Formats: sequence, structure tokens, C-alpha cells
Amino acid sequence: MQIKNICCIGAGYVGGPTMAVIALKCPHISVTVVDANPDKIKAWNGPLEQLPVYEPGLAEVVKEARGRNLFFSDDIPGNVEKAEMIFMAVNTPTKKEGEGAGMAADLRYVEACASDIAKYSKSDKIVIEKSTLPVRTAEKIKEILEENSTNIHFEILSNPEFLAEGTAVQDLFKSDRVLIGGDQTESGQKAVQSLVDIYANWIPKDKILTTNVWSSELAKLASNAMLAQRISSINSLSALCEKTGANIDELSKAIGMDHRIGPHFLKASVGFGGSCFQKDILNLVYLCKYYGLDEVADYWHQVVKINDYQKDRFAQKIINHFGGDLTGKTIAILGWAFKANTNDSRESAAIYVAEKLYKTGANLEIYDPKVLQDQIIKDIKFYWKEKSVKSNRISISSNIRFGNADTIAILTEWEEFKDLDFEKTTVFDGRNILKSPLYSI
Ligand SMILES: NC(=O)c1ccc[n+]([C@@H]2O[C@H](COP(=O)([O-])OP(=O)(O)OC[C@H]3O[C@@H](n4cnc5c(N)ncnc54)[C@H](O)[C@@H]3O)[C@@H](O)[C@H]2O)c1
Repeated sequence: MQIKNICCIGAGYVGGPTMAVIALKCPHISVTVVDANPDKIKAWNGPLEQLPVYEPGLAEVVKEARGRNLFFSDDIPGNVEKAEMIFMAVNTPTKKEGEGAGMAADLRYVEACASDIAKYSKSDKIVIEKSTLPVRTAEKIKEILEENSTNIHFEILSNPEFLAEGTAVQDLFKSDRVLIGGDQTESGQKAVQSLVDIYANWIPKDKILTTNVWSSELAKLASNAMLAQRISSINSLSALCEKTGANIDELSKAIGMDHRIGPHFLKASVGFGGSCFQKDILNLVYLCKYYGLDEVADYWHQVVKINDYQKDRFAQKIINHFGGDLTGKTIAILGWAFKANTNDSRESAAIYVAEKLYKTGANLEIYDPKVLQDQIIKDIKFYWKEKSVKSNRISISSNIRFGNADTIAILTEWEEFKDLDFEKTTVFDGRNILKSPLYSI
């Protein structure tokens, strides 16, 4: 099928950048991104320096394609109806209540999306799972689509996204691979080919991998689990280094030079954050339990437990430095985003470290170059579940300042923190947990 109109539901960290790049590389296709949140759409249509997603290079891509063949709209019915191909890029957080709470993926946004597609479609559609989903979700989506429509054929593909925040545009330009899962039927394979043709506009053919739907869905969860596992593995060894006098950086280098292992994701840190790793591993753990594979579930669950241990261990180091009580101490928190070059703070290690320090009595001075003050306040309310956060004990600054702090905790590896002169302050560096405190007075 010749695709002329694409609609993407979900204008977040995945939907926005992926569609911007598809529009840039396929000027013959009209790409419209819709979202249930009109403020987000307004921001995507607003000034380039205030797009809702901060990613190096993204503003330039949006500048070139927006208004040409890239559009952001809150008209979901009209754009679903018009498109031949619809991407679902909505959020799939961990379930908070009901069966599987705390582990399984909450599919309510995906289900709402599928109902909308069924409701507003008047012709056949290719529906693409861009969100990260539990294996066999396509079955459920098909059911919803078929129950809520008549005489329309929906072909469901899985096309998980592998971009990493902070390098999203580069990752989309030069993907290691593009994965497309489809049914082995004639119509399934035709739909797969339509999507292959889109990516083939800029991705070499040998990097476009086609599989069955279930392999594609599971490959995304498994990839994230394997990446996070490397971080937890090296972080667990950082604790052993501290006891034995071995140096974790030397260890990482020695391990990573083995070409069978490789050097990536082997740097010890305060722990991984972000909206994906933890939720995807928990989702994998839940799936394993669902299929009665308790040993496999326990194996992967440990990756998340080590991550919690590492964040806690780092905060405890700071507390121990002050003899167990931080009352009256001021701690500068440098960095709130879960990694550098993004304004995303979901599940950031900074949130957890800051919470423990605050609850042990510290006053906090928080600064991040890209996470807005409002977002930091929202995170504190959402993650700390602390109704009575004393505003006089927390200040959030739009400029870096640490002159009056008793200590500094660096929690995101922003470039601008690299050359600061900390010599008169004690510094705990999440990027260098073993050596923390780095400087001590
Ligand atoms: N963020 C990443 O780095 C990343 C990378 C790869 C895959 N993923 C996966 O991609 C998916 C999306 O992640 P994200 O980070 O872009 O999420 P996000 O929260 O940034 O964006 C999701 C958007 O979907 C919108 N939405 C939700 N339900 C809707 C509905 N029914 N109709 C219209 N709009 C709706 C929300 O308003 C929001 O703007 C998730 O499944 C995630 O696991 C994320």
C-alpha cells in the first residue's frame, strides 16, 4: 500500500522525535502527531526553543519539516480517519492498582488509543505498536479494534523504538536496527513491506529486521533488560571494589576491552533512571511469573533491586559523612534529569537520592539546566508522596549556585558540571561513586 498520510497518537519523547525524523526523511508523506493533551500540542507548534521535548538536534529537524509535511494537532478523529498508517506512541507506565500492580504494564492508554482508532476509522488501516508493550499485546489490540468497528480491516505491526533520550535524533538517523514484526499472512507481510519502504528512505536495508509480532514485542523488553543488567552488574561490583580496594574504573576498562563484552554501559554510577528500564524489566518479571517461570522472574528482578540498592547506598554515603543526621545541613543537588541532554526526569536517581537526604533533615538547593522548576515540584509531589514538603527547606534555582552549601551531590552528568571549581566544598559525585566524596574539607 502506498502510504500518503501517517498519524501518530502520542506526542511525547518517542512520538515527537520519531515522527519529526520520518517527516524529514519522507517529504512525500504527510505526518501528523496528535495528543490528548492540548497544551503539549500547543508547545510543539510554539517556539523552537520551548518544544516539550529537549533533544540535541531536534529543534533543527522540526524547523525544517514543521508546516511542510509535519503537523501537530489535537484533532484525533480527523487525523485517524485520514491516515492509512497509525502509530501508537502513548505511555505504558507500571500499573498502580489492580492485578499485577507495581509490575505489569498499565495498558489503559493503549486500549483507549485502540478504541479511538476503531471509532474514527472509515477505511482499512495499518496500526503500529510504537509503545513498548508486553508480548502478545497485539492480540488484545486486535480484539478491541474488531469489537468496535465493522467491515474495516486492521493490520497490526510491532515496531518498537530503540532511541535513547539525549541522543534520540542521532539514534533515529542512524539506527543500529529497525525492528518490524508482522503476521505471517499475505496482508500482514504487505503491511510489513509498507513500513519497510518508509524506513528504507534513510536506513540501509540490512538494518531493517522483520520478524513475527511476538518476537518483536519481546525483543524490546529483552533489550532494555540486557542494557539495564549491565549497569546493575557494574554497580554491584562497585560495592565490592569499595570493600576490597579494587578500582571500579580500572575494572570497567579491563572487562570492557574483551571484545566479547565490549565497553558500553559499563560505567559505575548512582544507578539508572528514566521512564523505561525499570518499568520494562518489571513488566518482563511479571510476564515470567504469569507463565509460571518464577526462577526467570527472580533473575531479572534482581537488576531492579541492585539499582535501588545503589541509589540508596549513594545517599547513605552522604548521610554517613555527616554522622547520620543532616538537620540544618544544606545540600546542593546538581542535576535532576535522569541523564544528560534531556529534560526528562522520570524515575531519575536524583529524585530518590534527594528524597532520602530531605527526609534525613537536609535543606536542598536544586538545579538542573533543562528540567523546569514546575516539573521538579511535580516530581517531588508525585514520587515522594510527601504531603508536607516544607518549601522553606527546598529551593529550586534556574542558575547554578552552591556557594553556601555544606555539600554538593552531582546527580546528572551535564557537561556544564565538569569544569566547576568545587575545591572549597565536599562533593559527592554520582558519576564517580567509588571516589565520593571527591573533594572534602
Ligand atoms: N522515552 C523513551 O526513551 C522511550 C524509548 C523507547 C520506547 N519508549 C516507549 O514509548 C512509549 C511512549 O513513551 P514516551 O516516553 O514517549 O511517553 P510520553 O509520556 O512522553 O508520551 C506519551 C504521550 O501520549 C499521550 N497520550 C496518552 N494516551 C493518549 C490517548 N489515548 N490519546 C492521545 N494521546 C494520548 C500523552 O498525553 C503523552 O503526551 C512507552 O511505551 C515507552 O515505554 C520510550
